[in-house]
Amino acid sequence: MSTSSPPQPTLLTHLSFLKESILGLLSPWGFLSLSASFLPRTILSLIQQQRYSVLFSPARLQEAWFTEFWTGLAGPNIRLNAGERVVPLLRGYASRGQVTETQVGPAIAGTVIEVGAGAGLWVDVYRQVADVRAPDADEGVEGVTKRKNVNNGNGEGKGVITRIYGVEPNPNQHPHLHRAIAAAKLEDVYQIVPVGIEDLDNGAMWDGRVEKGSVDCIVSILCLCSIPEPEKNIRELYSYLKKGGRWYVFEHVRCEHGLFMQFYQRLLNVFWPHFIGGCLLCRPTEKTIREAGPWDSIDVGQPATEPWYQVVPHVLGVFTK
Ligand SMILES: C[S@@+](CC[C@H](N)C(=O)[O-])C[C@H]1O[C@@H](n2cnc3c(N)ncnc32)[C@H](O)[C@@H]1O
Repeated sequence: MSTSSPPQPTLLTHLSFLKESILGLLSPWGFLSLSASFLPRTILSLIQQQRYSVLFSPARLQEAWFTEFWTGLAGPNIRLNAGERVVPLLRGYASRGQVTETQVGPAIAGTVIEVGAGAGLWVDVYRQVADVRAPDADEGVEGVTKRKNVNNGNGEGKGVITRIYGVEPNPNQHPHLHRAIAAAKLEDVYQIVPVGIEDLDNGAMWDGRVEKGSVDCIVSILCLCSIPEPEKNIRELYSYLKKGGRWYVFEHVRCEHGLFMQFYQRLLNVFWPHFIGGCLLCRPTEKTIREAGPWDSIDVGQPATEPWYQVVPHVLGVFTK
């Protein structure tokens, strides 16, 4: 019997790895340049709409610019790439940061808070991953669940979503979000909450109320990088979840491995928030959610396909209260 040693990497393999790594390290600068290219057209469009006051408010100009960039280019691309992970996550097909072949946890169901709903990039996914049905006044959530004869997200199969609160403070995103809700025919279930999560409990700021301890699921997709006072507000969000409630997370987080990557991410972060609507790269979001309160189970991780040079690494998974 002949034994053959594994093939040795050739010079070409090394060179191609080097090229791939360098391009990967440089790609975020390309993303910033693309965002910069949307600033002139944002200014032009504000002038055409005679929204001159926005031009003189750096915060409002940044919101308008971010919306142009996100709806015009970044969002649809992210939806295309991240959809492979986010859709299975919400269906209960993800464990340790990886997509699984079988269902390993409950699908999203019940009353849902979508944090930082943006332009509604993920709104149609609710229809894909769950049955959606607003409870009739005399029927209630329990009735819907019984009648549809599917579980309420505590076992296998699809759940029933009865209410979605899309928390989104940037008013420029709202027309896009409204269109996405209408396209998905979710008008009677999906309510836009036009404030930041820090004001979710402030009845004077919006027309509605979410009781603490009443929410079945929280969905946060690429948004906890942008909220103010993350420790305080993530703790606050935790308090809205009922016992057994689940927090589905797909967020980018601080680089934890290798001094070089930690330094490089911090360097990029000097510029990043100015170009990407205030988004901060170096937040330890997984740790912050872990520490928000006691969890019954935590099943999160970094997708294995992300290489060592990933300057914007992600965490994907579910926290169960
Ligand atoms: C990078 S975008 C992601 C939007 C959406 N989740 C998506 O994947 O397309 C971050 C979103 O968080 C929103 N955001 C910023 N501050 C927030 C706050 N205090 N509370 C809730 N959302 C906030 C921004 O307006 C923005 O729409």
